Formats: sequence, structure tokens, C-alpha cells
Amino acid sequence: MTRRSLLDLDDFTSDEITGILARARRFAADPPARDLLRDVCVVNLFFEASTRTFTSFAIAEQRVGADIVALPPGSSSLGKGETIADTAITLAAMGVRVIVTRHPESGFPYRLAESFDGHVINAGDGRHAHPTQALLDLLTLQSEFGKIAGLRVALVGDILHSRVARSNVIGLRALGADVTLVGPNTLLPAAMAGPGVRIERDLDAVLPNVDAVMLLRIQRERIAAAVLPSLEDYARNYRLDARRLAALAPGAIVMHPGPYNRGVELTEDVFAFAGWRYAQQVAFGVYVRMAVLDFLVNAPPPGA
Ligand code: CP
Repeated sequence: MTRRSLLDLDDFTSDEITGILARARRFAADPPARDLLRDVCVVNLFFEASTRTFTSFAIAEQRVGADIVALPPGSSSLGKGETIADTAITLAAMGVRVIVTRHPESGFPYRLAESFDGHVINAGDGRHAHPTQALLDLLTLQSEFGKIAGLRVALVGDILHSRVARSNVIGLRALGADVTLVGPNTLLPAAMAGPGVRIERDLDAVLPNVDAVMLLRIQRERIAAAVLPSLEDYARNYRLDARRLAALAPGAIVMHPGPYNRGVELTEDVFAFAGWRYAQQVAFGVYVRMAVLDFLVNAPPPGA
């Protein structure tokens, strides 16, 4: 692979992450001409359901003037036994410069990038990574607080199976935030702690001491997989409701990558909370994705 891709946030230095956030802020304040990616062909290759990420990339690609092809799930010849490498070679031969991909298998975008002479953007792979979600979360925090360094951010819920959590931890630590991971033992092994990342089981003890709470979706299949006793049990200990919102520090915000399960990780009280930032996150997603596309395609190659 000779061109840069975004497979996870550790592909970028902290300066590059900061630069992409600045570029996204610039695009939000002053939309660029629709020619940043003129004559650049982008293929959206999604093998897993997506409302936010798929639509957001499609809008972002339109706004930078790319030529867009969406290959619907089941339509690619991977289903007929074509290898990932041959798919990559085939798309590159047609002049495709960027592939945006989501796949249920962790590592799929890495294998694609090994053989693709172009840029691959990971739009979510298995439990592994979701770097553009983390970037839009960082932009939301930065826009709210004017900085990331020193912020205290709690990620709450199914950390173990969350690609959003993994990419966010990388991004938050790269920019100097303090991270607290909160959840039950089965969804958050103690081994996930690390430098600047601590583990807490008691959400009520954490809430008064953070600037932002990032809720994660509880996947109902975890009950079937016997890693949670019941949704009721999870809700009793970790659901954000009116009582827990009242315990937050003044000015604290609540975020969620979506889709959210009403009644499980949050109650409807959250939607009326002044610090609920879900819509802001979604809106920033378009600008962050425009910025990533512009950065990857238009930045000078290394050594140039
Ligand atoms: N946040 C997120 O990835 O949502 P979608 O699954 O709808 O893309």
C-alpha cells in the first residue's frame, strides 16, 4: 500500500488528528467549493447495516464533489468467492481512488488496504475500530469545551464489544483527555485499563466528576450470549435517567454514537437534558468525513 488510509485513529499522529478537527471546523463554518475531490471516484462498500455512517459519508462525498458509487450488500462478487485482494485490484483498475468500507469482520479494511492502490477508510469493522465516529466525538468535545486535553470523559456500557469505545480511547488519549471506562465485569474486563484509562464499576460515583459521558449501545444479543443477566439489571446499574442526570457536574454533556436503545442505556429524560449532544455529533459527522477525504486525497504524499 503506497497511499495513506484511515483504518484506526492510531494511523494518524496527534498533530494530524488536531489538523483534521481544525479542517472539519473550517468546513462547518465556511463550506468549501464542491470540487475538493473533483474527478475522484469513491466506492462505498458496506456489508453491515448503517444509517448514520453510510448517509454521512454519502453527503460528505457529495459536498466535496466526488464521483460516488455505492455497492449494495450482496452485490459485490466477494459473495461469489472473489478474494478481497482481487476486489481491491479490480476497483483500482477502474480508477477508484477511495474505498469507504464497513464490515462485520474485524480487520477487513486492513486486508483491503494491503492490496488496494488507493485510500481505504474504515467505517466500522467488527468489534475493532470506528475511527470517523471517534473523530466526530472529539470534534463535539472540542467544540463544547474549547479543548480536549485535561477533559474527563466517561465511556459507559459495553466497552468490550465496542469499536466506538476502542477508537475513542485512542483519540482521547492522543489528545490528552482522562478516560474512565464504566461497566459491569462481563462487558469491561479490568485488563482494559491502561495509562490514562481507569476502570470503574459504579456509575453513580463517576457522574459528578466528569465533563462528558459517552453512552454506548447495549446489544441485545449479549443477553443471549449470557454476558448480561438481564436488560433490567443493566438498566438498574448503568442506565442514564433523571436521577443520574441530576448528579452530573454543571456544564457536563451526554453523548451517544447511536443507534440508542430507549429504556436500556438511557431514558427519555436524556432527550430533554440541556447537555444532550447526539444531534450535534451527527451533524459534525459530515464535516469530519469531508475533512478526512480531503486530507487523505489532497495531502502531499510522504517525502514529496
Ligand atoms: N454510529 C454509527 O456507526 O451508526 P450507524 O451504525 O447507523 O452507522
